[in-house]
Amino acid sequence: MPQTDNVRIAPADGKLGVLIPGMGAVTTTFIAGLEAIKRGLGKPIGSLTQLGTIRLGKRTDGRSPAIQDFVPLARMEDIVVGGWDIFEDNPYEAAVKAGVLEMSLLEQLKEPLSAIKPMPAVFDQQFVKRLNGPNIKPKGSKMDHAEMVMDDIRRFKEKTGVSRMTMIWCASTEVFHQAAPVHATLKDFECGLQKNDPEISPSQIYAYAALKSGVPYANGAPHMTTDMPALLELARERNLPVSGKDFKSGQTFMKTLIAPGLKSRLLGLSGWFSTNILGNRDGEVLDDPGSFKSKEVSKSSALEYILQGKLYPDLYRDFYHKVRIEYYPPRGDAKEGWDNIDIFGWLGYPMQIKINFLCRDSILAAPLVLDIVLFMDLAQRAGMRGIQEWLSFYFKAPMHAPELYPEHDIFIQLMKLKNTLRWMRGENLITHLGLEYYD
Ligand SMILES: NC(=O)c1ccc[n+]([C@@H]2O[C@H](COP(=O)([O-])OP(=O)(O)OC[C@H]3O[C@@H](n4cnc5c(N)ncnc54)[C@H](O)[C@@H]3O)[C@@H](O)[C@H]2O)c1
Repeated sequence: MPQTDNVRIAPADGKLGVLIPGMGAVTTTFIAGLEAIKRGLGKPIGSLTQLGTIRLGKRTDGRSPAIQDFVPLARMEDIVVGGWDIFEDNPYEAAVKAGVLEMSLLEQLKEPLSAIKPMPAVFDQQFVKRLNGPNIKPKGSKMDHAEMVMDDIRRFKEKTGVSRMTMIWCASTEVFHQAAPVHATLKDFECGLQKNDPEISPSQIYAYAALKSGVPYANGAPHMTTDMPALLELARERNLPVSGKDFKSGQTFMKTLIAPGLKSRLLGLSGWFSTNILGNRDGEVLDDPGSFKSKEVSKSSALEYILQGKLYPDLYRDFYHKVRIEYYPPRGDAKEGWDNIDIFGWLGYPMQIKINFLCRDSILAAPLVLDIVLFMDLAQRAGMRGIQEWLSFYFKAPMHAPELYPEHDIFIQLMKLKNTLRWMRGENLITHLGLEYYD
C-alpha cells in the first residue's frame, strides 16, 4: 500500500538500460532469454522477480502476490542492453560460439541479437592472462579510459532513450588482488587513475565510470571491484547501490542448500571436496592460477560462515574443504560438478553424501542477471545506497559491512530479501513465530 511505504519508491517509468562489461556465455544467454521470452519462445525459469511470490500478513490471510506486482519493477520488455567486449562478435555470433543455446532458437533471435554491437573494452592483460582481443580502447591513462566509458554511457543513453541504467559485470574473472593503498579513499583512487596505478583493475575503471555517471554497479565475478573504501565512498556520495560478488549459480548454490540442512540437524562435517569440469571460455580463464585464486577464495568461505566452527567445535572446527576447477574443453558450458561430503552422526559414526550436478552454467546464471539488474534498479529508485546486503541471495561471496560476517545460508538470504521487500512497502516482516494461530 503506497501510503504506508517505508521508503519512497520512484515509479519504473520508461526504459531501463542494462550495461554489461563482457558479452560472453552468460550475457548472450541472458539477452537471448529476454528476446525469447518476449516472443513467447520460453519462460523465465529460475527468476524470482518473474515467477516468485511473496506472502504478506498472516498465513490465514491468503495474500501472496507475485513479487513483480508487489514492488514496482521494470518490465522485461522495457530492458535495453548495451555492453563492451574485447571481441567484436555481436551477441548472436558470440552465442553461437558459446554453444549454450540451440541453433534453432538462436536463428529465430538472430535479428535482435545481431543489432547489439559490443563497445571497445577497457582491457589489461595483467588482469586476465589467458585472453587477448582486438576490440579495445585506444591507449591512454586509466582516467582516460574511465572517461571513455562515461562517454559510452552517455551515448548509449542518448541513442536508446532509456530513463535509467544499471551496470552488471559479466566479463572474465580478473586475477586475485586485495585492496591496496590506492583503494583507501576516493581521492587516492582518482589520483591512481591519473597515474596508471597498477593496482587499479579494468573492472574498477568500469565501476568508477558507472558510479560517476549515476549508474548502480553489480559484480557477477569473484574478483574485488567495489568492495573497497574508495568506490564505496563514491557510491555513498552519489546515493547509488552496489552489490556482488560472483553469481551463486552451481556448486556453491548446492553447498549453501545442503550445509544449512546438515547444521540444522547438528550432523558433523569432516571434509567437503568439490571439483568441477567445464570447457567454456570462463573455464579457460580460470585455468590461470591468478584468476582461479579469485574463484577459490570466493567459493571457499561459504561453508565456514554457515557452519560456524567456533560456535560448534565438536561438529565443524576442523573440517577439510577443497575446491577444484578443471578446464576440460569437450564439455563446453555443460559443467559437471562432484561433491564428496564426509559427515558424521550419533557417537561420531561416519557417513558420506555424493552430489553429481550435471548443470549448465549460463542457464543457471542468466535468471540471476535478470533479477539482480531489476532489484538494483528498484534499490536505486528507493534511494538505497551502498552495499545491498539483501541481494546476498544471488552471490557466492556476498558484500557486507566490515563489522559483519556475510550471510551465506540461502534460506536466511531469501528471508532477508523478501523481508526487505516487505519493509520497503510497509508490510509486517514475517518472523514465522505463529503463536497467534494457537491462542
Ligand atoms: N554460472 C556461471 O556461468 C557463472 C557463475 C558465477 C560467476 N560467473 C562469472 O561470470 C563471468 C562471465 O562468465 P561467462 O561464462 O559468460 O564467461 P565468458 O568467458 O563466456 O565471457 C566473458 C566475456 O568477457 C570478455 N571480457 C574479458 N575481459 C573484459 C573486459 N575487461 N571488458 C569487456 N569484456 C571483457 C571476454 O572476451 C568474454 O567474451 C565470469 O567472470 C564468470 O566467472 C559465471
